[in-house]
Parts: sequence; structure tokens; C-alpha cells
Amino acid sequence: MKLVLASALGLFAFAGPALADDFKLLPDGPGRDTTVRVCAQCHSPEIAAQQSLDAPGWKALVDQMANNGANATDAEFDTIAKYLAASFPPK
Ligand code: HEC
Repeated sequence: MKLVLASALGLFAFAGPALADDFKLLPDGPGRDTTVRVCAQCHSPEIAAQQSLDAPGWKALVDQMANNGANATDAEFDTIAKYLAASFPPK
């Protein structure tokens, strides 16, 4: 049983990078890679797809995540806010 679990975890770890771009809820666009890399540090980056915000709203949410401890440069946060504003505008 322990062996099975260990190999399952091994497979998951191996599959991780290959699946890094398997976030179907995130549309293609400039900044997507940065968004996935930074926003997946704590939770699935796809939870962003639940929100529909204007540009200041996304900037505020990204700032909130920076306060939560998200690790990125100001330029990267800016790229992410723009990607999210373009991808998930207000409904
Ligand atoms: C350092 C950890 C961390 C990182 C990195 C992070 N988040 Fe979060 N995120 C959280 C925590 C903790 C919560 C839940 C508490 C909260 O809402 O602040 C959360 C919640 C959220 C929510 C739900 C908020 C709501 O009100 O329902 C969204 C959307 C979100 N994050 C988007 C993002 C985006 C976009 C990024 C990339 C810029 C990101 N997160 C990066 C920690 C993080």
C-alpha cells in the first residue's frame, strides 16, 4: 500500500510540470504564463476565473494577493492584473 502511494505521488510530481499549462479556464493571452506561475504558488490560478472585475478591481485583487504573500515583481503583478482584466472583464 505504501509503495502504491509512493509511486502515485511520484507520478503526480512527474506530471506536475507537464500539466502546468492545463488550466483550461484561463484563456490564452499575454501574461498568462506569469499569472499561472505566480498565482499557483498558493491555490489554483483558475479561481481567478470565478471573478469578473474591471481593471482597478483586478489591480486591487492582485495587490491583496501580494499582501497575502504572493512572490513577484511589481512589473509581474502589473502584467497579471492586465491579463486578468482582459480575460475576465465585468459581466
Ligand atoms: C501567497 C499565497 C497566495 C498567492 C501567491 C495568491 N493568492 Fe490568491 N488567495 C490567497 C489566500 C490566502 C486567499 C483566501 C483569502 C483571501 O481572499 O485573501 C486567496 C483567495 C483568492 C481569490 C478568491 C478571493 C475571493 O474574494 O473570493 C482569488 C480570485 C485569488 N486568490 C486570486 C489570486 C490571483 C489572481 C493570484 C496571482 C496574482 C493569487 N491569488 C495569488 C493566497 C494567495
